[in-house]
Amino acid sequence: MITIPHSCHKSWPPSFPITSSKSCASLLFTAQNDRPKIANTLNENNETKQSSAGRIKRQVLTKDGRTKLDAFSDREFYAYPRFVTHVDDGFITTLTNLYSQRLRPGSEVLDLMSSWVSHLPKEVMYKRVVGHGLNAQELAKNPRLDYFFVKDLNQNQELEFQDGSFDAVLCTVSVQYLQQPEKVFSEVFRVLKPGGIFILSFSNRMFYEKAISAWREGTAYSRVQLVVQYFQCVEGFTQPEIVRKLPEAAGAAQEERSPFKWFTRLMGLLSGSDPFYAIIAYKNFKPVHE
Ligand SMILES: C[S@@+](CC[C@H](N)C(=O)[O-])C[C@H]1O[C@@H](n2cnc3c(N)ncnc32)[C@H](O)[C@@H]1O
Repeated sequence: MITIPHSCHKSWPPSFPITSSKSCASLLFTAQNDRPKIANTLNENNETKQSSAGRIKRQVLTKDGRTKLDAFSDREFYAYPRFVTHVDDGFITTLTNLYSQRLRPGSEVLDLMSSWVSHLPKEVMYKRVVGHGLNAQELAKNPRLDYFFVKDLNQNQELEFQDGSFDAVLCTVSVQYLQQPEKVFSEVFRVLKPGGIFILSFSNRMFYEKAISAWREGTAYSRVQLVVQYFQCVEGFTQPEIVRKLPEAAGAAQEERSPFKWFTRLMGLLSGSDPFYAIIAYKNFKPVHE
């Protein structure tokens, strides 16, 4: 049972404690824990068989690979809002352009591990954008979110939405903090509609003490491969597609020679040089749009 103030009743009933970012009170929804995890389908002889789509085929990370230098609660680490951007303007422009190309207007979008900024193109209308993160103050400020919820994905990976709730799931510059990525990717698969897209992007910045050791100790190449494996370990994702945009080598070399630019870059004050990586896959199949 839920109590919803009339002023913020939305037609779509999420099944998780969700707060509308349009300054409504907290909405408490019943969890639907009894939904089937594995869909039944009919084979050619009309016999029921269980689909294994969404199943975790293998664990990608070792126990050591999942460890963080700061093993204290993630919720405490993110308890104070950080009203900063975590990547530079060049990265954000590339990401927004990618979203413009890949996300259809009118889509239902889940932005996992989100914050106070959205990288969605401003001019495009989506049916609903649901945000998730660890800091409610940040999420409440995010202008694109219709709803948000706070949940520590290292404590519990279940996304309490019904199967096939979203056309798109996004996760920006945050995958390095996931200690159970296999389960999170499997849940993303479940909540996507068939043909739905998962766009995961990252750069080379991180809260070092909160990144898992498999990420911290990796290289740019190995991090791409790691995320590719997160997708591949879940039955049913299409072959992951890799999009890279690296700072121009010549420009980067020039920058290295300038002490001022080197210093400002070190301080995160210069834009245009964060490498961009996105790994993209679809649930079951890549749709062909007219
Ligand atoms: C670097 S910020 C990125 C925020 C946002 N995606 C963006 O592009 O600005 C990392 C985000 O990961 C989320 N996060 C980190 N650890 C988490 C955890 N254990 N469970 C859920 N979210 C987590 C935090 O909410 C934080 O906002």
